[in-house]
Amino acid sequence: MKRVAIFASGSGSNFQAIVDSVQAGHVHADICLLICDKPQAKVVERAAQAGIPSFVFSPKDYESKVAFETEIVERLQAANIDLIVLAGYMRLIGETFLGAYEGKIINIHPSLLPSFPGVDAIGQAHRAGVKVTGVTIHYVDAGMDTGPIIAQRAIEIEETDQLEDVERKIHEVEHQFYTETLQKLIQD
Ligand code: GRF
Repeated sequence: MKRVAIFASGSGSNFQAIVDSVQAGHVHADICLLICDKPQAKVVERAAQAGIPSFVFSPKDYESKVAFETEIVERLQAANIDLIVLAGYMRLIGETFLGAYEGKIINIHPSLLPSFPGVDAIGQAHRAGVKVTGVTIHYVDAGMDTGPIIAQRAIEIEETDQLEDVERKIHEVEHQFYTETLQKLIQD
C-alpha cells in the first residue's frame, strides 16, 4: 500500500474527499500525514478528526525556506512516504523539497493549464469570459503550476454563471477527479 502525505493550507475539502475515499475503499492508499503551513486552517481540524497525524508549522518561525523544507523532508522520510499530494498548498516547492521528491509530488489546479496559473484561477477564468474551464492534475516542478500534466477535466461556464457557480462546479469535479486520478496513479 502506497504511503501518502497530503499538503494543504486551507479548508481541506480535497483532503477530506481523499480521506473519505480511502475509508470507503475506493482509493487504496495509506494517508499517513498532513503537512500544513497555516496553523489556523480548517484542514488541521479535519486531520485530527480523521485521526491522521499532522505536522503544522509557520514558515515565519524558520530562518529560511531551506530550513523548513529540510524539516519537511526529514518528516516525510521518517514516515516512509512514497507519494505527496498537494491539495491547496499555497506555496511554491523549493529546491530542498523538490530535490528529494521530484516525480513523486502531484498537485491539483482549478483551471485547464497552461491557462490561468497561479492564485485565483477560477476568478481569472470567470473574468476572462471563457466558456470552458476545468481542473488539471499535474506533477510538480519548480515553476508555478508548470509541471507535466497527468489528467484534465473540462467544465462549461454558462452565460448566467456567477463566480460562486463556477467555484461550486469546479470543487465538485475536483473531489471526484482527484480521488479517481490518485487511485489510477497508485495502480500503475
Ligand atoms: C482547490 O481549488 C485546488 O484546486 C486549489 O486549492 C483549492 C483547495 O481547496 N489548488 P480545498 O482546501 O481542498 O477545499
